[in-house]
Amino acid sequence: VVEVPKPVIVKEPEPEFDDGKKKVTVFFGTQTGTAEGFAKALVEEAKVRYEKATFKVIDLDDYAADDDEYEEKMRKETLAFFFLATYGDGEPTDNAARFYKWFTEGKERGTWLENLKFGVFGLGNRQYEHFNKVAKVVDKLLSEQGGNRLVPVGLGDDDQCIEDDFAAWRELVWPELDLLLRDEDDATTVSTPYTAAVPEYRVVFYDPSHAPLQEKNWSNANGHAVYDIQHPCRSNVAVRRELHTPASDRSCTHLEFDISGTGLSYETGDHVGVYSENCIETVEMAERLLGYSGDIFFSIHVDKEDGTPLTGSSLPPPFPSPCTLRTALTRYADLLNSPKKAALLALAAHASDPREADRLRFLASPAGKDEYSQWVIASQRSLLEVMTEFSSTKPPLGVFFAAIAPRLQPRYYSISSSPRVAPSRIHVTCALVYEKTPAGRIHKGVCSTWIKNAVPFNENHSCSWAPIFVRQSNFKLPIDNSLPIIMIGPGTGLAPFRGFLQERAALMEAGAELGTAILFFGCRNRKMDYIYEDELNGYVNSGVLSEFVVAFSREGPTKEYVQHKMMEKASNVWNIISKGGYIYVCGDAKGMARDVHRTLHAIVQEQGSLDSSQAESMIKNLQMEGRYLRDVW
Ligand code: 2AM
Repeated sequence: VVEVPKPVIVKEPEPEFDDGKKKVTVFFGTQTGTAEGFAKALVEEAKVRYEKATFKVIDLDDYAADDDEYEEKMRKETLAFFFLATYGDGEPTDNAARFYKWFTEGKERGTWLENLKFGVFGLGNRQYEHFNKVAKVVDKLLSEQGGNRLVPVGLGDDDQCIEDDFAAWRELVWPELDLLLRDEDDATTVSTPYTAAVPEYRVVFYDPSHAPLQEKNWSNANGHAVYDIQHPCRSNVAVRRELHTPASDRSCTHLEFDISGTGLSYETGDHVGVYSENCIETVEMAERLLGYSGDIFFSIHVDKEDGTPLTGSSLPPPFPSPCTLRTALTRYADLLNSPKKAALLALAAHASDPREADRLRFLASPAGKDEYSQWVIASQRSLLEVMTEFSSTKPPLGVFFAAIAPRLQPRYYSISSSPRVAPSRIHVTCALVYEKTPAGRIHKGVCSTWIKNAVPFNENHSCSWAPIFVRQSNFKLPIDNSLPIIMIGPGTGLAPFRGFLQERAALMEAGAELGTAILFFGCRNRKMDYIYEDELNGYVNSGVLSEFVVAFSREGPTKEYVQHKMMEKASNVWNIISKGGYIYVCGDAKGMARDVHRTLHAIVQEQGSLDSSQAESMIKNLQMEGRYLRDVW
């Protein structure tokens, strides 16, 4: 036997310029761009304050190709800041997932970060159980592994005003950086107040008759090898139908995206990200407020005409252009969320009425904090409502798209099908968001409204389509099919379980031995919102579902919720847990999932004759073993 030596791959070393400048790395884990924006804002201001240091803003995913490289590079960092958002059930953002896994699950490294000084700012929402978990965990581990914490971990709360939280945290950072980065001869510059320049793209207008043609380059078939949030797949709407009966005053849509021939694939339990569009009324209102026709053609640029980058402000990544203003407003502008304070300042800079400008600046100032949280946030005033109120504001398009209207974000849905049954379709079960805001506006959810109004291919061959992509999840059936499972999913929380049941049906057909499966479903009234009723009963009849328990919340004199039904079935639930079974919860995180968690705790405590802390640690263990999984929003 000839032993073949392993090839030695020698990586070209990165050039290391030692210009004597102190280096600061600012990492971000972002989903919607807020963490990235804060990272850039910190660096913009720091560059002005500390001319003798160099700063890098880095997407955690781009930092290193693998675990070894993370370790190798992190070892060399001496001063770093982390902006980390927490999502769903205490999870990191997609672009921070690899870093987070490496850093939290990696091997013992001792106090290897002794050369590192760091600060962490988290982005989360206090309404959720795992408030800022990712930031807290990273902050703790950095310190435990030898790093020197410069400032306490910042806990940004999106439920209130996260910009204020960031501003307050940043004020703690400067005195620390002053000590580390400021030379004595800089002392004179200390008192110069920093005012951020309003970011602005360079805009070029085209004569529509000579405009270069721009079709959005969403690929389908033979397009991109891997689809993701940046490279979505164009897919047609094949089927759309209403799931509620006419008796219901709400709406829930069953929609099927056709992915045949695209190369896009998914697994049961995954999520689909959908880029939708603003409806025409919203777009036309924005056109009126901006004072432009939707037909004008323009392009946006992050560099000057001579190709050098625009400096002085942190610009968000541009969207594909040239395009018409109507297209830009339809596809790329978030017009219905409340404006951030930075957006108010940008509007103020372009208000022709000085009283309006003053008032906008006041709302964005520390003194106007309470009024901002009342008049803008609590009243859910949309950007368009604010622009209507301050009608003298006419921002140029370069400012509007760079600093006022954030990019329209994709919406995520738990896929309600299984590829074993629907390999060329992605099913979505989507409740319509339609509510009156405290200020009296009817708020129609952007994506759910688009989904409700989508034209399916089975009705019209020039059907609706959307750029979509799949996000993997760990919400998966047990590998061992014979293990028992409990599924808890009221309302559209049923979605992934419909996928689970399709998968179990396919497994059963293939002769697999299936463990017990109980489904707890909840809706208001069997005559209104009992979605997929026939399918579910069909699964009971075929044995795919062993037990199907429904809580109707608005039929009798008292509310019946899934957790009440769980309590009634406490011994079955306990039995399944004791047999090594799995528990799945899907749906609303703030109310239902929290209440179900408490109920589970009570069941474990009572049935297992445990005290409260023993019950708690048993549930923790279930979570750690991946046997208690939650897909919540
Ligand atoms: P309700 O609207 O009558 O309050 C799907 O939305 C179902 O979940 C509805 O029947 C709804 O009842 C119910 N629901 C609302 N809040 C809940 C909670 N905290 N726990 C469990 N179910 C809840």
